[in-house]
Amino acid sequence: MITSKNIGILLDFIKNSKKNSDLYLLVKKNSISLSSKRKSNLYIKNNNNLESKFSISKFYQSILNILIPILRKNKKLVIAQIGQSIDGRIALNNGNSHYINSPKSIIYLHCLRSISDAIIVGSNTIKKDDPLLTTRKIKGKNPKRIIIDGSLSLNNKYKIFNDGNENIIFTKSNKKIRLHNSRIIRLKEKNFTKNLIKQIKKLKYKYILVEGGSKTISELVNNKYINILQFMIAPILIGSGINSLNLKEISNLNKAIRPKHNFNELENEIIVNLFLNS
Ligand SMILES: NC(=O)c1ccc[n+]([C@@H]2O[C@H](COP(=O)([O-])OP(=O)(O)OC[C@H]3O[C@@H](n4cnc5c(N)ncnc54)[C@H](OP(=O)(O)O)[C@@H]3O)[C@@H](O)[C@H]2O)c1
Repeated sequence: MITSKNIGILLDFIKNSKKNSDLYLLVKKNSISLSSKRKSNLYIKNNNNLESKFSISKFYQSILNILIPILRKNKKLVIAQIGQSIDGRIALNNGNSHYINSPKSIIYLHCLRSISDAIIVGSNTIKKDDPLLTTRKIKGKNPKRIIIDGSLSLNNKYKIFNDGNENIIFTKSNKKIRLHNSRIIRLKEKNFTKNLIKQIKKLKYKYILVEGGSKTISELVNNKYINILQFMIAPILIGSGINSLNLKEISNLNKAIRPKHNFNELENEIIVNLFLNS
């Protein structure tokens, strides 16, 4: 069976397997191994379809259907993920965003975190949500945390500075402060985002997840850094609040971005992938 206890191990296994090879796997409660065809209980075909000798719930099947094709591309990717209402809001105007998406979608988000080597968020998300950015809903690897804090306005009261895991903070400020478990990297104000992207590329992560908020993702989309823009859309109407994106204004619809895309169902929500620069 695939459960929250072994989905992270399975995804990690697939992440580290060879590109496009057929995978015959022996899935046990807390371990996954390559197997001969005869002994395998899960077969992932070259075209990413799954065959299994045990029943997989529709929920975990959907997660695998979304993440296996991404992992099997086996190339560096920057994925921005937006959990939004059907009218495109990621939070209320007072910053509250808990929760737009269902608890099951949060499990999916933790799976996405578990395949990511690093996770990027802006300073407002830390201030409003005080997140840990870990994979605690499943048994998975935690990504390295990268925080963009332009004016270095964060302080040690937030959870990310008190759980013992490391953070990298990018800033343009020269303020002299110390943040627990953190390396502060100062960049020039001029062309800050371009320099930031250059510096993150130097860190050589394979999969990077950009989790928000709106300013952070919009700036990185405007700078063509995002390969997959993923919308997790909940069937709720909020009617006001923070928009998921604010991109450069365009004057004609023929300038709108019309990328390749796919749609996936996850319980009662829809996940739309836009393939921007891949
Ligand atoms: N539903 C979801 O999926 C989701 C996910 C994450 C967050 N959220 C919500 O989103 C809200 C926060 O979003 P937000 O748009 O206000 O803020 P944000 O993107 O979290 O943070 C913005 C701040 O980060 C710094 N920053 C980010 N990118 C930068 C860049 N390229 N160059 C310079 N500085 C940069 C700036 O700090 P300085 O101002 O100091 O320069 C900027 O003001 C919260 O309410 C949170 O709950 C929702």
